[in-house]
Parts: sequence; structure tokens; C-alpha cells
Amino acid sequence: MKAKQLIAAAAGTAMALTLAACGGSGAGETTDDATNTAGGDSGETFRVGVAMPTQTSERWIADGDAVKSQLEELGYEVDLQFGNDDIPTQSQQIDQMITNGADLLIVAAIDGTALAGQLQTAADNGIATIAYDRLIRDSENVDFYVTFDNYQVGVQQATSLLVGLGLLNEDGSEGDATGPFNIELFAGSPDDNNAGFFFNGAMSVLQPLIDDGTLVVTSGQTDFDTVAILRWQQETAQKRMEDLLTSTYSSGAKVQGVLSPYDGLSRGIITALQNAGYSGTTADGFPIVTGQDAEIASVKLIADGVQFSTIFKDTRKLATQAVTAAEEILAGGEPTANDTETYDNGVKVVPSYLLESDIVYASNIQSLLVDSGYWTAEEVASGVAE
Ligand code: GAL
Repeated sequence: MKAKQLIAAAAGTAMALTLAACGGSGAGETTDDATNTAGGDSGETFRVGVAMPTQTSERWIADGDAVKSQLEELGYEVDLQFGNDDIPTQSQQIDQMITNGADLLIVAAIDGTALAGQLQTAADNGIATIAYDRLIRDSENVDFYVTFDNYQVGVQQATSLLVGLGLLNEDGSEGDATGPFNIELFAGSPDDNNAGFFFNGAMSVLQPLIDDGTLVVTSGQTDFDTVAILRWQQETAQKRMEDLLTSTYSSGAKVQGVLSPYDGLSRGIITALQNAGYSGTTADGFPIVTGQDAEIASVKLIADGVQFSTIFKDTRKLATQAVTAAEEILAGGEPTANDTETYDNGVKVVPSYLLESDIVYASNIQSLLVDSGYWTAEEVASGVAE
């Protein structure tokens, strides 16, 4: 641990407030109530740099807010930054956090392979790094990883596709449908370590049904590199779906299902389908489109019967897990892992804490999302976060 901003216990509160009132050391948001100390009775106020990838997706805004507020409740100072989906911007933000005296970093990377330099500088300064949701690769300086069981997320995405097609029922029992069904596959950003986990999990379910002819990937495009969407961009997914509809489905064949790994992509895919004349709801034949993140615009589409499913990953729980790990590290201990095998970042297996996710269908929006307070009934009805 690097030398901290030592604040004498007696003067700590006043001084921290003064520092905060002065805007701390510059960039980023800082707390205005950094009164507590951590790490026992040393009187030090810990400062945590939180780097999130983008504000174009509401989940990262929610993640950032949840991590920040939970850290602040514990009395830490927080420097929260969003990287605008731009790799140099995020690198600079992390450099700045280190310069500004961070004691610990929590990072959701834009490009999981691009931060080894920053993490080396952090480590040289005794600053620990927690990878948040996305693994940071090719660095020995990733101390801990908090995420969901990403392979299982992919399994759930594929399972919900089969439910939508009628091959399975929501309770997992066999459905009445037999196929064959025309489907297309999409994967996430190739520089995001999660994307491969989602795709591999999904294909573990779909491949046997592709092999036995129940599912037909009409375009023939099944390998990850071909179906991946750089930076998870909605427009790129819309364009790829438009191209597929033109190249593969212009002579009468209809697409019946689309594996989509993220709600933003799902909405791009749905727009492409609607522009090509697919209409109505899944009950009357609109293609089954999956998703992830329970973004409010997609939850409304699910309630309306247009998007079929999404995966709910409770960002509040992930934030809590990151904050717990931060506390454990800053107290000089080892964070509690529940997986020490799965996440090899190319240099080492990073000890991880994996959370569970749930499939959202129209039938359980109320119980999973509204009753838990994630979205209000009004937000689901309007499709807009308040
Ligand atoms: C992944 C994340 C997903 C989704 C996606 C696009 O890394 O695990 O939940 O948010 O990025 O933002």
C-alpha cells in the first residue's frame, strides 16, 4: 500500500471536508462527505478510483452510481470516471486516478487487453486493482475480479431463445415445437473477455441442435469472429442484421430467432427486422430476439411482446461485491473468492467472485425487476429510466 494522504484523526473530518469542498485534486467527482476512515484506526481516508467504460449504456451508469454511493457510505473518497468507449480516454483517466492519489482502483475495461501499462504503474505505487465485470487481461496486477457467471449467462441466453421458439418451456421442460427454425447468431465485442464466455455458453446449448438440424443458421455465419460486434455498438448490430436480411433472407426464407448477447444489440436487430417488414409481437410471429442487462427500453419491449427475453444481472449486487472486496483489500486482507479456476487472464488465474443471473420473460418482469426495486412499474410502462 502506498503512503496515504495522512489525515490526523482529530482533524480528519474537517480536513476531508475542506479537501472535498476544494474539489479534491481535480479530475472527476469526489465525495462531499468523506469523513470516515478505513483500515482501522490509522486515521487515513482511502481514495478509490472507479473507471467505467461508457455512459451510452444505462447499466454502466447504474454500476458507477452504485459503486460510488456504496463506497461513500463507508467513508471513502471516490473518483468516478466514464471512458466514453474510447481506449485512450480510459487509460488517461486511470493514469489521472493514480496521480491523484488513489489507494485502490475498480475498473470495468473498455478493451480488456489495453490496460496492462496502467496496472503496472498502479502496482508500482502499491495500488491494488479490482476488475469489475470485465476481466483485464495480460497483466499480473489484477488482484481480484467481481463478475457474474458469464458462461452461465450465455447458457441462459440460448435457453431463452429455445423457449421463445417453443422447443423448451419456461420451466425447462420440453416444448411442443420441433423445428427446424431459421436463426442467426450475434456475439459481443471481441476485445471484451466476457463476449467469448457468453458465446461459448450459448453455443454449448445451441450447437447440438444445429448439428441435428433443429436449428439452421441460414447465413452459415457461426464463428465468433464473424458474428462479433465491436464495442457492443447498436448501429453495427443493426447494420449486420440488415446485411443478413438482404443477403440471406431476400428470397422468401424468414428468420425466426436471433441470439443477441446484449439489449443494445437486440434493439438494433429489432429495428432492422421491423424496417424489413417483420411486424407485430412474438405471439404472432415476430422473430425471437434475446438480450442481456434488463435495460429499461428492452424491458418495455419485452412487456410489449417485441423483444422476447433478457438476462438480469443485478448491478446493485455486483457493486456490493466490489465494495466488499475493496474493503477487504484496503484492510490489508485477501478478498473472498468463490471461484479460483475459471478466469485465466493470460498471465494468471485471477481469484474471482461470481454472481448469478436470471432470465427475464414478460411473465416475470414484475417479480424479478419491479418487486426487487430495480425498475418501477411506471418505468417499465414508459421504457424510460427516471
Ligand atoms: C459486457 C457486460 C454485459 C453488457 C456488455 C455491453 O461486458 O458483461 O452485461 O453490459 O458488456 O455493455
